[in-house]
Amino acid sequence: MNRNEFIKNCGYACLGLGTMGLLLEGCNSQKMINAELVGDVIRIPLSDFETRKKLHANDDIISKTSYIIAQHPKIKFPICVYRLADNTYSALYMRCSHQGAELTAFGDKLVCAAHGSEFDQYGKVQNAPADTPLRTFPTTIEHQYLIISLKAI
Ligand code: FES
Repeated sequence: MNRNEFIKNCGYACLGLGTMGLLLEGCNSQKMINAELVGDVIRIPLSDFETRKKLHANDDIISKTSYIIAQHPKIKFPICVYRLADNTYSALYMRCSHQGAELTAFGDKLVCAAHGSEFDQYGKVQNAPADTPLRTFPTTIEHQYLIISLKAI
């Protein structure tokens, strides 16, 4: 391989690595936050569902995160908050309804590593042995914040 071929191959390799990084980043739509707990309410800024990436000095790309996992030391299990559409969210307690193991979020479903139960973005059972839906919490939007009422815990 001569010098020109080497430089050309290195250029292709760098281009491939850069593209791979963008693709992997595009797959990463999960975000973990420490939630603000006020009384029995969690407040999450709607901006937490956005990721800004600066392209140039005056040029930002904003991508929407499909879900956020909110945690707080006073809440035993995290809460997975799915953005179902603009201004429509679901908040699911990440405690398996089968025997109480903590769930893991994989895209649009929550999976239990203990015995394999799966739940959709609304908390409905998609795969047994669980046979009851997840605990969900009512959500509202107030002044650019998503409000999650924990009265049901
Ligand atoms: S505790 Fe989750 S499937 Fe059994």
